[in-house]
Amino acid sequence: MFSRSALRTLAAPSSRLFSSSSARQSKVAVLGAGGGIGQPLSLLLKSDPLVTSLNLYDIRGAPGVAADVSHVDTASEVKGFSADHLDAALEGVEVVVIPAGVPRKPGMTRDDLFNTNASIVRDLAAAVARVAPTACILVISNPVNSTVPIVAATLEKAGVYDPKRVFGVTTLDVVRAARFTSGVTDAKPSETPITVVGGHSGATIVPLLSQSSKGKTVSGEAYAALVHRIQFGGDEVVQAKDGAGSATLSMAYAGAKFTNAVLRGLNGEKGVVTPTFVKSPLYADQGIDFFSSNVELGPNGVEKIHPIGELSAEEKKLLDACLPELKKNIEKGKAFVA
Ligand code: NAI
Repeated sequence: MFSRSALRTLAAPSSRLFSSSSARQSKVAVLGAGGGIGQPLSLLLKSDPLVTSLNLYDIRGAPGVAADVSHVDTASEVKGFSADHLDAALEGVEVVVIPAGVPRKPGMTRDDLFNTNASIVRDLAAAVARVAPTACILVISNPVNSTVPIVAATLEKAGVYDPKRVFGVTTLDVVRAARFTSGVTDAKPSETPITVVGGHSGATIVPLLSQSSKGKTVSGEAYAALVHRIQFGGDEVVQAKDGAGSATLSMAYAGAKFTNAVLRGLNGEKGVVTPTFVKSPLYADQGIDFFSSNVELGPNGVEKIHPIGELSAEEKKLLDACLPELKKNIEKGKAFVA
């Protein structure tokens, strides 16, 4: 699934999904583990050899999910924690993945989730600040453009904010971009990795197709359709599920892929680079202090934030549309905590 060596071993019938280059101990917690994303994400993390201990927390159903997942024949230990045991779930944890909160229904934007999810994410971040203040926090709960600033501001209030350790998970946009671009260029998804920058909702999602050898061959109506599909691919799933939620399985895959990347960075592996929504200097002069671009991951979390590189004329327009909306989303998150 993730590193080159892992990709090579996938061809073998009894292959594993993840790569493990080292035997370092990694304790991971999933907050919202009983949900549509949380359950398959927990299963995938149980299969990741870099995860040695997995704490599953939810206000509903986590002990059952933990009992179930714990029977999978990999070495990691799995424990389930119910509503009143959040602090215990976070004890000694190095990586906290947060898919807690409500998902979209047809006709909703991610911003429509703000009222419910903002306080869920704030309260979970406050608990992490109290119990595991040095943990890396991977935020899946939407709207990511606002929930990441909420987590940052909550940690800041508690006096434990380290911008290198707070990430918005935008990997599903990257996964979709590779898959959809492969579809229109007749190439394998492994040949069409696409850098996606900006934020994680509609017009704030900016795929940089011009930086991909296959992606830059797409033009005209096909280009417009591809960009639209990458930006609004989530709607396809929301509509197809017809009221039963949004992307859960592909999101679990993306969340596990990103968690594996963070763990590889923490383990000291070099060259682990992927887009993620972090505190970023790239557009800070325009009042946009969170932004997704390629980030190198390392032993402290964020190692290096890469600039977005050369843009085509179309991509400049996409970025122009992204920035004001992203700014509003970020300010809304900050205002909530203030
Ligand atoms: P879901 O409703 O199936 O699961 C959410 C889980 O969170 C439930 O089990 C619920 O009990 C739990 N929960 C609620 N409040 C909690 C709290 N205070 N503490 C712990 N757990 C709590 O929803 P689903 O489909 O798993 O989606 C979760 C979130 O992920 C949504 O906000 C959704 O919009 C977002 N999402 C993000 C994506 C991304 O690319 N970053 C992609 C798809 C969804």
